Amino acid sequence: MDLIKQRLLSFNGQPDFGLGARAQAQAAVLFSRPFLVLHTATEIYTARVVMLLALEMGWGPQLRQGATLDELIEGLVPQSRLPAEWMLPFLVDQGLLHHEGARYFLDGEPDLDLKEIRAFVDAEVPGHGANFELLDAVLRRVKPFFTEGKTGEQLLFDLSVFPLWLAYFRNENLGYLPNNLLAVLALREGLPTGARIMELGGGAGSFAQLLAQDGAEGGYLDRIADYRFTDVAPAFLRKAQRDLREKAPGLPLSFSALDINRPFGPQGFSEGWLDIIIAINVVHVAVELLDVLQRLRSLLKPGGRLILGECLKPDFQRPIFLEFYFKFMKSFTDVTLDPELRPCSGFMTVAAWEKALLAAGFRNVRRIPDIPGLLEDYPTFYVGALSAEA
Ligand SMILES: C[S@@+](CC[C@H](N)C(=O)[O-])C[C@H]1O[C@@H](n2cnc3c(N)ncnc32)[C@H](O)[C@@H]1O
Repeated sequence: MDLIKQRLLSFNGQPDFGLGARAQAQAAVLFSRPFLVLHTATEIYTARVVMLLALEMGWGPQLRQGATLDELIEGLVPQSRLPAEWMLPFLVDQGLLHHEGARYFLDGEPDLDLKEIRAFVDAEVPGHGANFELLDAVLRRVKPFFTEGKTGEQLLFDLSVFPLWLAYFRNENLGYLPNNLLAVLALREGLPTGARIMELGGGAGSFAQLLAQDGAEGGYLDRIADYRFTDVAPAFLRKAQRDLREKAPGLPLSFSALDINRPFGPQGFSEGWLDIIIAINVVHVAVELLDVLQRLRSLLKPGGRLILGECLKPDFQRPIFLEFYFKFMKSFTDVTLDPELRPCSGFMTVAAWEKALLAAGFRNVRRIPDIPGLLEDYPTFYVGALSAEA
């Protein structure tokens, strides 16, 4: 796969995370050859899937002549605009289309072979099929979003796809591990004895599992007095109640339902009782971001910390491959925008997170690692953690 090999050349080796020897050794996995192969291959695979979807939508002949977004989505349901206005610039960014002003063009016969990418990854990084099977599922299932107005949640979270999400949200998946690993590195710094921690949107429980393992290895697990696992989705909560004690041994677990978009008091949460709130790829679904951040701050003791593990955009204009699924999800797209604090729905930039956290009254906002520095050298490294004090 020449394209993968060519893109791998742009990585400059292991950056300094500035987090001490143990963290540096753990973070080495993020810039290992298997990680970079998977990351790069998933980006190229996503681009090909998006192009195949565009062809499946019948846009090929128009794109060959040159077409605008409005021309392409004419006759489709109105919700089509949002994913389509992401897909076209993403395809330009990935070299599969070019544009002249508002017109997009498809030239020649692009290489859209998916099998060769799978074969390359299976040989180099076996056991990572879920990353690609999820994308295959989007290609197979998402057309009714454009033609019948079905939601992404209906099409991509149903029973046939749910097991793929569970396979994706695992620490063994090098494509997902960085989200959890960087947040663990942030959480364990300055962890007080008797810490009360709450996780938002704990989902498949992969963060809790990594924390239990790292806390045991690093000798800090017994500093945690209570680990409250929460999620809005009953299916995730039930699954965690069933199997997380076994999978995260030594973590003093308790469980609650919690929807971050509703006031916390009526959901049974009092103010000022937590040392740490941790949320991995959850808070960007806040409908009213500032309100949610302020409410989260009120749950923390003075000096308590909110730690966010988030996919981060280098800038709001640039589409990134990890966004593709979520352009179909109402929970991701139906949020209140604000030109200052929340210019776009979905994943945000580091700078926008910092601004929003400060506006919500947090202080000492830190990046783990120093993300803008990393983004300059590793423009496709899209993950980071933020730690903010109440
Ligand atoms: C990207 S997943 C995080 C996965 C999880 N950290 C893990 O490692 O498996 C996002 C999670 O946020 C949850 N979520 C979505 N909307 C939410 C809301 N309004 N309040 C709380 N949790 C929410 C989802 O159910 C899902 O489990």
